[in-house]
Amino acid sequence: MQITFYGQSAFCLEAPGAKILIDPYLSQNPLSPVKPEQVTGVTHILVTHGHYDHIGDTVALARQNGALVVANGELCSYFKAKGLKTHVMHFGSARAFDFGTVQMVPALHGSSFTEGGQTVDGGQACGFVLQLEGKRIYHAGDTALIADMGLLEKIDLALLPIGGHYTMDIHEALRAVGLIHPAAVIPMHYNTFDEIRANPRDFVDALPAGVGSFLLAPGESLAF
Ligand code: NI
Ligand code: MN
Repeated sequence: MQITFYGQSAFCLEAPGAKILIDPYLSQNPLSPVKPEQVTGVTHILVTHGHYDHIGDTVALARQNGALVVANGELCSYFKAKGLKTHVMHFGSARAFDFGTVQMVPALHGSSFTEGGQTVDGGQACGFVLQLEGKRIYHAGDTALIADMGLLEKIDLALLPIGGHYTMDIHEALRAVGLIHPAAVIPMHYNTFDEIRANPRDFVDALPAGVGSFLLAPGESLAF
């Protein structure tokens, strides 16, 4: 598959017949080299929680591509009211999609947001484990270090926040690696704003022996 990073927590996973965006924060993302109009052929959009830097351009992208939005029940109600096609998931087991499976897994973070002066209940923040072309990819969303990470099985690639302040920092992300034992990692959620400054090299250099890493600049892709 091809994995593209757009900065913050926005990723695109492409495999034959599927183009999956996760947390597509593009138009307002100071690091993203692409605008939503340039992203075509999207089949699915996975949203980890209701914060603006994760919902991002979900509404515009889902409309323009006819993509299915996968999120918790509260966020799906919000997206459905905007006319989008949605699929509700909650913490539980893996669910089969055309491209493989998706499992919603715990994260420790908020998810509510305001729109038009009203607070919208975004349900519970989550991460996702996708199984695609025989590979298991964990996108942690925004989260603190949680012991539940130790329950994740056979992760080939973990996408982990390292920017701190709102999520794990490098120290915590390294402890997460110790719980997850992924084959490889990609750091995310750093340097988009002043509050989440981090040097991804410090994270990569401190990884235990045997854990691979990919440092993707925003806009860069990886064949995985
Ligand atoms: Ni957040
Ligand atoms: Mn965030």
